[in-house]
Amino acid sequence: MTYEITVQASKNSKINQVDFHNIPFGKIFTDHMLLCEYADGDWKSAEILPFQNISVSPAMSALHYGQEIFEGMKAYKNPEGKAGIFRPEMNHRRMNRSAHRMCMPEIPEELFINGLNELIRMDSAWIPTTEGASLYIRPFMVATDEFVGIRPSETYKFIIFCSPVGAYYTEPIKVKIEEHYTRAARGGVGSAKNAGNYGASLYPAALAAKEGFKQILWTDDVEHRWIEESGTMNVFFVIGDKIITPSLDGNILDGVTRDSVITLFSDKGATVEERPISIEEVLTAHQNGELKEAFGAGTAATIAQITDIGYQGSLLSLHPIAARKYSTWVLEQLEGIKRGTLEDKFSWMHWL
Ligand SMILES: Cc1ncc(COP(=O)(O)O)c(C=O)c1O
Repeated sequence: MTYEITVQASKNSKINQVDFHNIPFGKIFTDHMLLCEYADGDWKSAEILPFQNISVSPAMSALHYGQEIFEGMKAYKNPEGKAGIFRPEMNHRRMNRSAHRMCMPEIPEELFINGLNELIRMDSAWIPTTEGASLYIRPFMVATDEFVGIRPSETYKFIIFCSPVGAYYTEPIKVKIEEHYTRAARGGVGSAKNAGNYGASLYPAALAAKEGFKQILWTDDVEHRWIEESGTMNVFFVIGDKIITPSLDGNILDGVTRDSVITLFSDKGATVEERPISIEEVLTAHQNGELKEAFGAGTAATIAQITDIGYQGSLLSLHPIAARKYSTWVLEQLEGIKRGTLEDKFSWMHWL
């Protein structure tokens, strides 16, 4: 089936109101959005229209029963001013895996990718070119049945909107190993990008913030012994000359940045291990001076250096950032590929 995209261009661009040298994260939205409705077992044609509020019933099922999934990816400009999106097919596939787990309809690739391309083309003037800045893209799907009762909705809205953003973290972060609260449980929805996972993380994150931690380092729900991920990032440790990241166990998100980091390091000939990593292993490596680096990897932050790890009231201070050759290298590679200044060996960028 072919999905037509109708376009209604905004008559009043807001772009001149934005200070692109001082962009907060996630507060400014571009001129347009894409909207597509699902009903009677299929997606209808999509519309690109001026960014606007949507009107919903108070009985809309997503508001009550949490059928909401989303994605996050970014667009950049190369030195010639051409717009490009980083690995959108990965986000499309993950969105469909989330949809499957949440009993929601999958989105055809043609609809997702063509709609996305068209939207980014229209709002390409909004892609910032200042250092560390980019255009954050937020596709999401909500269940829209006007119905009180627990069953999968029969109608949905799929929307994509965009937001020019600066750096997610303005400085390296301190994380706390969480041993009481759980982000995701075995057999649950940890590997899906559904809204509830994030709502559930807020309270433990607020408690950690009171102790001075920017993020939580989540551990498994059974023993609180195995490290999982951190906030909106997958996590990597460099121990000796090995780069270690927790394996995809169904509890953590299959990050696009995680995959990109693993691919870049492996291609360079470094040893990357995807396997369970325990708190004990990290503590022992720290004691022995073998824990060289720890960092988070995710679309919003790209690479976030972890300077300190809180564990049971004590603080493990890690090596200075200047000494971190692995994460510094991989960040440079990722930034160079995304901004078209380094070779894109794996054809990750979709230039428009
Ligand atoms: C819980 C969680 N883990 C990891 C990630 C990193 O994934 P990605 O690199 O695809 O942004 C994200 C962000 O989407 C996330 O929300």
